[in-house]
Amino acid sequence: MATVTLRDENRVLEDPAEISAFLAPFGIWYRRFEGSDQLPENATDPEILDAYREPIELLKAEGGYVTADVINVKPETPGLDAMLNKFNKEHWHDEDEVRFIVHGRGVFHIHPPEGPVFGIEMVKGDMIRVPRGTHHWFDLCSDKTIRAVRLFQDTSGWTPHYTETKAEAGFEPLCFGPSYMPAPGI
Ligand SMILES: [Fe+2]
Repeated sequence: MATVTLRDENRVLEDPAEISAFLAPFGIWYRRFEGSDQLPENATDPEILDAYREPIELLKAEGGYVTADVINVKPETPGLDAMLNKFNKEHWHDEDEVRFIVHGRGVFHIHPPEGPVFGIEMVKGDMIRVPRGTHHWFDLCSDKTIRAVRLFQDTSGWTPHYTETKAEAGFEPLCFGPSYMPAPGI
């Protein structure tokens, strides 16, 4: 299950219905796709897309997405840090960012035009749609592992536009999953 952290309000949301209701005013969809635990960790990309064909087709129809693929990131992925550095600075896209986590985890931070930044830790079974134009950034957790289905309206629209606000500088990617390692002494 996802975890929403409102650092400035010292508030954490963990209930999926509460999270969906909190995110809805920002145009963010949050849903649970159960069943990824039935897929072997070494499932191929086509097997993953096939296992989730039904919800993927529903999302495509709902959001006008035309293609879906699977991204697979591991600590040994070549050029991992360069890849992560593209997305861990505040940016926005010309099209929606839609992700469904099949394995691993990661954290989206959302920076609404009015109101404080909040973090969304996404784990296996979580689906999110961040609407085009939303200021956000993304970090992996310490295990640097994520496998996710991505949906696109037009892959050319998914280039990051950087806001250069450096809002991300004040936020650590807090991950509450099994890989979360508290700082020594805390
Ligand atoms: Fe992004």
